[in-house]
Amino acid sequence: MRLRNKPWAKEMINDNLDLISVQPTDMQGKWQSKFEKEQPLFLELGSGKGRFITDLAKQNPQNNYIAMEVQEGAISLLLKKQVEMKLPNLQLLLDNGSKLSELFAENEIDGLYLNFSDPWPKTRHEKRRLTYKAFLEQYKYVLKDDGHIKFKTDNQGLFEYSLISMNNYGMKFDEISLDLHNNEGLNLNNIQTEYEEKFSKKGFRINYLKAHF
Ligand SMILES: C[S@@+](CC[C@H](N)C(=O)[O-])C[C@H]1O[C@@H](n2cnc3c(N)ncnc32)[C@H](O)[C@@H]1O
Repeated sequence: MRLRNKPWAKEMINDNLDLISVQPTDMQGKWQSKFEKEQPLFLELGSGKGRFITDLAKQNPQNNYIAMEVQEGAISLLLKKQVEMKLPNLQLLLDNGSKLSELFAENEIDGLYLNFSDPWPKTRHEKRRLTYKAFLEQYKYVLKDDGHIKFKTDNQGLFEYSLISMNNYGMKFDEISLDLHNNEGLNLNNIQTEYEEKFSKKGFRINYLKAHF
């Protein structure tokens, strides 16, 4: 969903460049320097308004997190929250995930979260899906050898596509659920996103997988 640009967003971004990076060209391999402590680094690609990543960062002060989003209108809402919260282990990144391997160095990331990624159902838009092979290639580059991807979606078509795409790429699956909220074990520590709450309330089942290269 496209969010309208906020009239106040640009000024807030410019006033808080210690909390958010905008299309940086010089951060590859240097992300740890943006945080108070050097510790494992996790990325959420397509973080939207950021409820998931802020809850995750609050619950896990022993990790660092980057919320990456291509829409200024969405990440500015997260920035507004972070200006208040000032979580020391959360950084924001406004840029397109298609440039991931220019933004991060090889093996710089410990884990990647994809939550309710846009499904792009038309075949001619396949390349925009965040589990298309060109994205997987970049994830493989930036993730450590033991790094994992965790992916959740209510969209059956995108989930099936992603299983096939990841399998064809030679990825290995650690966990799969076609109904996360009714899987006691996997749901125990689940943190819901904005989309997850909205669509599960409408009765959609949440698909989940954890995989590694
Ligand atoms: C359907 S929303 C889900 C938002 C949030 N993850 C949630 O679950 O509530 C998908 C988000 O991914 C972002 N997105 C899509 N493609 C992206 C890309 N190539 N790079 C960065 N963000 C992207 C969109 O702007 C949008 O905010």
